[in-house]
Amino acid sequence: MAFLPNDVLAARRRSTTDADWASFEARFEVEFPRLAGLFHRIYGENADDQLALLAVEAADSWQDRPADLKAIDAARAQNPYWFSSNTMLGGVCYVDRYAGTLSGVRSRIPYFRELGLTYLHLMPLFRAPEENSDGGYAVSSYREVDPALGTMDELADLAAELRANGISLVVDFIFNHTSNEHEWARKALAGDPAYEDFYLLYPDREMPDAYERTAREIFPDDHPGSFVQLDDGRWVWATFYSFQWDLNYRNPAVFRAMAREMLFLANQGIDIIRMDAVAFIWKRLGTPCESLPEAHLLLQAFNAVCRLAAPSLLFKSEAIVHPDEVVQYIHPEECQLSYNPLQMALIWNSLATRDASLLAQALERRHATPPGTAWVNYVRSHDDIGWTFSDEDAAELGIHGHDHRRFLNAFFVNRFPGSFARGVPFQDNPRTGDCRISGTTASLAGLEAGDPGAVGRILLAHSIILSTGGIPLLYLGDEVGQLNDYSYAQDPAQAEDTRWVGRPGYPAGRYAVKDDPATDAGAVFSRLHRLIEVRRLTPEFAGGRLVPFSTNNAQVLGYQRPGAPGAGGSMVLALANFADSRQDISAETLSGLAPSAVELLSGTFITLADGISLDAYGVVWLRCRTGH
Ligand code: GLC
Ligand code: GLC
Repeated sequence: MAFLPNDVLAARRRSTTDADWASFEARFEVEFPRLAGLFHRIYGENADDQLALLAVEAADSWQDRPADLKAIDAARAQNPYWFSSNTMLGGVCYVDRYAGTLSGVRSRIPYFRELGLTYLHLMPLFRAPEENSDGGYAVSSYREVDPALGTMDELADLAAELRANGISLVVDFIFNHTSNEHEWARKALAGDPAYEDFYLLYPDREMPDAYERTAREIFPDDHPGSFVQLDDGRWVWATFYSFQWDLNYRNPAVFRAMAREMLFLANQGIDIIRMDAVAFIWKRLGTPCESLPEAHLLLQAFNAVCRLAAPSLLFKSEAIVHPDEVVQYIHPEECQLSYNPLQMALIWNSLATRDASLLAQALERRHATPPGTAWVNYVRSHDDIGWTFSDEDAAELGIHGHDHRRFLNAFFVNRFPGSFARGVPFQDNPRTGDCRISGTTASLAGLEAGDPGAVGRILLAHSIILSTGGIPLLYLGDEVGQLNDYSYAQDPAQAEDTRWVGRPGYPAGRYAVKDDPATDAGAVFSRLHRLIEVRRLTPEFAGGRLVPFSTNNAQVLGYQRPGAPGAGGSMVLALANFADSRQDISAETLSGLAPSAVELLSGTFITLADGISLDAYGVVWLRCRTGH
């Protein structure tokens, strides 16, 4: 770029070796023009000064990057799709709730290894407002760990120790908003014009009213619309809680400031950052202000900054939106990984309806992602479950989206006769009819209600995330069947936010009996452990290729996993019975397959010519060959 002469960059060079500097320059040649192109598309020609500063900061950050992380950068450049291996397994937990402190997390590493984790997502652990911080999603400093949990040095040490144990560390990059206690927010409040321009602040209701005509309400229980009023009378954009102020990405200084925070985190040894609330980062009048084209350009620009200065860092997109929008974030040059909210929601849908058709349809038409990317598949997260399926897809199967969502909400909060689920409504909005639900896997699957099918449902749900391709992500504690925690209702900072029902503390009692299969906890743990072990030994489960399989039985889901090309012609056929009764798959349905197969979970030979009978909630993973 004309405005960044080579000598400007060369002047930043410190005592780094020739080879090291050459590797930066080589990436610079490719990635800087990409970054500049994106900058021009987002900001026009007026941001070249910010761009030049950013380039220089990237050079500095690369030189600050510890040697062990540069070694990982080099290794992963040789093996860029390391994350699509069938040995990848994720776990997520809150530091305080699950282990007290960072050193508590460290002491749980032997257990993480026993479970087979290779990826650990620690929920937000940065300095945040004390009373209520939306579970840490209101960040007051990206450079400080919450002092109750530990220090930034301890986080870097933990990252190194996890890495030595084969576990990648994942943390959130909460870049749509900061807390109102962040230094930038304080300065904005005090009237510093440079920082006022970091947020979306308005003197009166004119612009807020105009935006709210088309923007969706996200946390209506906290405040209606997207804005909150400050004590001085001004209005600030706050998509989520009133203390979470959205950043103004129309200001290129905001992009640069956040890019610096991102690189700082990367250099602590973080392997993957979870890009929080990606859909909301760009606003335009007259639109829903979600998933706008600029949101993608911004993510690609962050991606380019990483390739310059922390090349092995991966992005995971958190877009819990319509499936057509979710996929738009998934690309090697945008977010290599993405939550799979559609699969998550449809697993629960199938459990409620005992019908796998919508899930089968989603696997058929919405599962493929571009080469070099992968889903993060999960049964539930720390958040609510929203029914994000496409109404058009549902209509093809005779399902009316709006009515069906009402049914699902009623079912999962136990307002439907015969329901096994014990969930709690979240952000029930009588004005729009919108509602989501909260709860732990076990409580939603019937364990709390004492339903005899509960353990089977928990395993069935996990079998799907373990075998459809991508990184399966366990909510830690769910592997021993932890139940809802209703104590949040007594805590004024949590009482209004039912997501806390699904975020219990470390379930010590259940872990204590996890090796006794006669207990519920042990039954879930031992059978889940078996699923994990078998997956790890099954190369067909690597990568994301999936071929639908029609079972001729709406209650039984089927899919084939052919594995990576050249894997030897075998494939694994997964069958999963969502009915609460035994179901048969006929010999004729299986007649396209070679007559004998190995059922991997039980390690037995099966003659497909007899057809297959599946227990209620039964799952089989059959290694087969096609043809005779
Ligand atoms: C994400 C988080 C959620 C949080 C929100 C605002 O959706 O998962 O917990 O409330 O972002 O940061
Ligand atoms: C997400 C979703 C919203 C969800 C919220 C947190 O960004 O879009 O539906 O409820 O964050 O729970």
